[in-house]
Amino acid sequence: MMLTAGHALPTRAACGRRAVRINAVAAPEKSGVLNVNRNENFGKLRAGYLFPEIARRRKAHQEKNPDAKIISLGIGDTTEPLPKYIADAMAKAAAGLATREGYSGYGAEQGQGALREAVASTFYSGLRTADEIFISDGSKCDIARIQMMFGSKPTVAVQDPSYPVYVDTSVMMGMTGDHNGTGFDGIEYMVCNPDNAFFPDLSKVKRTDIIFFCSPNNPTGAAATRAQLTELVDFARRNGSILVYDAAYALYISNPDCPKTIYEIPGAEEVAIETCSFSKYAGFTGVRLGWTVVPKALKYADGSPVHNDWNRVMTTCFNGASNIVQAGGLACLQPEGLKEMHAMIKFYKENAAILKATFTEMGFKVYGGDDAPYIWVGFPGKPSWDVFAEILERCNIVTTPGSGFGPAGEGFVRASAFGSRENILEAVRRFKEAYGKQN
Ligand SMILES: Cc1ncc(COP(=O)(O)O)c(C=O)c1O
Repeated sequence: MMLTAGHALPTRAACGRRAVRINAVAAPEKSGVLNVNRNENFGKLRAGYLFPEIARRRKAHQEKNPDAKIISLGIGDTTEPLPKYIADAMAKAAAGLATREGYSGYGAEQGQGALREAVASTFYSGLRTADEIFISDGSKCDIARIQMMFGSKPTVAVQDPSYPVYVDTSVMMGMTGDHNGTGFDGIEYMVCNPDNAFFPDLSKVKRTDIIFFCSPNNPTGAAATRAQLTELVDFARRNGSILVYDAAYALYISNPDCPKTIYEIPGAEEVAIETCSFSKYAGFTGVRLGWTVVPKALKYADGSPVHNDWNRVMTTCFNGASNIVQAGGLACLQPEGLKEMHAMIKFYKENAAILKATFTEMGFKVYGGDDAPYIWVGFPGKPSWDVFAEILERCNIVTTPGSGFGPAGEGFVRASAFGSRENILEAVRRFKEAYGKQN
């Protein structure tokens, strides 16, 4: 048996002429072993979250090919520097914190009043009010907190394929069964593929308590039309379900027939929560700022407003977005900032158009890219992780395997339009060299 400091065997030791009793306990056989059970829901999660797995494979490829200049069209992370007017506003706020007049500590957990007002008037004019907008450190964090508000009992539907956070947080919360080799038991996967123009056949979708819906969709790049969203809202209303609508890419929409917020659909305010973000609008992926809209008209079965519970979640689990960052958000919504934000979106959309034209020219079936910064490329009959590996090997380009977004993503890869123009053009050159004209 091993003895450690403070863990001696009961013994008598001579100390001068007096015997001293030392009380001690035996050390565990192995140190560092807890007597706490793991949250069993975490055991259900698949090997890893998609993007860390891609990063692991990229690193392995780089180690094997130290000279390779890898281009990432993988994780949807922005690459262009922050626009000047917006960055200056944050620098000014940061400098102000070093002065007595400019200093502020904790702010309202719901966000600064001016920013809530600006978000309401810029994105939801006449549709939602400032007190229904909650400013946060980003949409991903809000999705996790929304799940915390729902607890473990509700049933969940997701678009298939979709942003993995909806499914993984549902698993973590205990809303699902085990993974059955294709998907998680208990999750209603709403297949979205070219056969249904990437909008689910709702007549075949089972009723669930919660429906996650992302438009424009990550990863397919498909934006739902007004008619489709009307169908979706009607479906949620008929079933008494809550729609969690992720509008993180709404400003990328060009098609005038595709609403930029779910609240353009009459009746949505009684069924829908909407989450959105500055990440892909202003390059705030590292800066961190988003918001979630919870209309006051949204009520649980017992008549209590969801707004109250969301306020409770935010005031308990969140301490407000950074004051510096909120100054940046406010700058985004001033005329100069809006101009910069739209210029940035235009730049990424041009990248998307270049990628889409290239794959189309090469003879691939390509989707998305018109209303979103993602291109969804079909490789029918090929496992998408194999396509991912092949593109990495042959082109030194990181894409995202479609199956990482859900079972219906098999046979596709996603290419992200976030990148410098130089990298996008170099990626296009490598794709053409490796794949030439198909058929
Ligand atoms: C659909 C969707 N929602 C939310 C997010 C996360 O946004 P945020 O950076 O605000 O956490 C992303 C990020 O890629 C996304 O694709």
